[in-house]
Amino acid sequence: MLVSHTIEIPTDAHSAPGSALWRDAVVYQVYLRSYRDSDGDGIGDLGGLREGLEAIAALGCDAIWLNPCYASPQRDHGYDIADYLSIDPAYGTMADFDAVVKRAHDLGLRVLMDMVANHCSVDHAWFRAAVAAGRGSTERARFLFREGRGVDGELPPNNWDSVFGGLAWTRVVEPDGSPGQWYLHSFDSSQPDFDWRHPDVAEHFARVLRFWFDRGVDGFRIDVAHGHYKAADLADHPGGRGPEAGHNHAMWDQPEVHDIYRSWREIGREYEPEKYFVGEIWVPSPDRLADYLRPDELHNAFSFDLLVQPWEAARFRRAIDTGLTVGRGWPAWTLANHDVHRAVTRYGQEQPSDEALPTDMIAAARRTGPANLERGRRRARAATALALALPGSMYLYQGEELGLPEVFDLPDAARQDPIWTRSNGAELGRDGCRIPLPWTTDGDTFGFGATGSRHAWLPQPAWFGAYARETQAADPGSMLSLYRDLLAARRAHLGGAAALRWLPTARDSLLAFERGAFLCATNFSGEPLAVLPQWHNLTVLVSTQPLVDPAVIPPESTVWFVDERLAAS
Ligand code: GLC
Repeated sequence: MLVSHTIEIPTDAHSAPGSALWRDAVVYQVYLRSYRDSDGDGIGDLGGLREGLEAIAALGCDAIWLNPCYASPQRDHGYDIADYLSIDPAYGTMADFDAVVKRAHDLGLRVLMDMVANHCSVDHAWFRAAVAAGRGSTERARFLFREGRGVDGELPPNNWDSVFGGLAWTRVVEPDGSPGQWYLHSFDSSQPDFDWRHPDVAEHFARVLRFWFDRGVDGFRIDVAHGHYKAADLADHPGGRGPEAGHNHAMWDQPEVHDIYRSWREIGREYEPEKYFVGEIWVPSPDRLADYLRPDELHNAFSFDLLVQPWEAARFRRAIDTGLTVGRGWPAWTLANHDVHRAVTRYGQEQPSDEALPTDMIAAARRTGPANLERGRRRARAATALALALPGSMYLYQGEELGLPEVFDLPDAARQDPIWTRSNGAELGRDGCRIPLPWTTDGDTFGFGATGSRHAWLPQPAWFGAYARETQAADPGSMLSLYRDLLAARRAHLGGAAALRWLPTARDSLLAFERGAFLCATNFSGEPLAVLPQWHNLTVLVSTQPLVDPAVIPPESTVWFVDERLAAS
């Protein structure tokens, strides 16, 4: 085969026991609230997930990542945790949780939970106690309470913005009724940040990890893993406030954060096989990201860089190279999650030519504007096939396998994301990618809710039935069938496959690489493109568009090939 550029992978990459289980895993992300509702109250739950696990296993996945299901007032839908050691009653009981883990394991699916340790909920016992105990108390020392500036402390302690818009500080009323101190919240005011310099915090999370590991959980996705510590002086952001202020270095990615992951990795190693950690990390450069993946820290971090690229061959290739280098050959890829717009919509929109700031990537994947869904769908199919052919693990967000578009036209009154409220409606937020899934073409909630249930927590549009899982399962041309075919072919041909080797092609808009006997080609252009004559004797495994001639890659499509002779040798 032709040889061009090979990505160098350090030989010690993921040599630790246990991690090999995850390095090329396909992980299905379950946004529980919207997956399946077993009791008909309009909210997806653990009973619904248990019934729906078979669909995930049948798709060919290796694991699930469960968004937070702990006790929570749900101001940020579970990312505001009131009790880390219990299940939210809206989702079920601890017995329901255990049943999900057991059923998942029986089906060969491993289970990741979500660890939210940067902040908790204002309803957490520690925070309530802190507010009640007043200034200078040991209870307040577990959070970041500070006096305000100005004559009477009426101004916030510094100029930091919250990620969700508005100030990162909220003022409390002291026990005597007077206006009091301010507490820091990197996100919504309902999510007070812990002070990780207080020893109780680290001790608490060590206990939380062991609690869930002892129940059989196989690992954690770590929420805002570059958070947790803030620069000790909480100095003003020199960039000022607002969208133009740029990355606030004092708020994120502090050197001490790495101690957390060293200690968590140690805890994970108390188990056999070792428990796994994947981080959600937004930092200004690949080097900073790589620091989190040192051999005694996290196993993995999401390569969000690929997710935010426009539909352009050179940009995809560069993001892939960066991801492979930072991820030591086995990155965690994803093209969608519960924080960004659906892929078919993003790829169907006008493609941004500007470079997204690495720290502002979420905004880059939440653009509004008209979408050509047919084009978006073609590109999403091709991009998914490309990503699934890469070395590394792949995280699939629920509903992507159905090709769901973003729902933009929710009634204002139905919107629930704090981003919508905190930005006074300037930003739509994330509700549109969290609409409860359609399982059937008909019915009040398209099969999301138990028989007889009349509503879902976010309204499903009338056209959702056209994306129902049941119809797609029977249609070989559907998005669901494509996912099934890709995962089956990946299992058969890519398990333990070689590193990626880029291949030369006749046109820049055709990206091609081989991994041993396997070859993947993606045509980013709107024209059919011929492959090099050397490929003519290859066998086609999957094509994301109907293939008339295997020597011609259709517009906006990916084709997987195998060299049968090489595979047999
Ligand atoms: C992460 C989560 C997001 C959540 C935020 C605050 O970015 O993915 O959904 O709102 O953290 O916990």
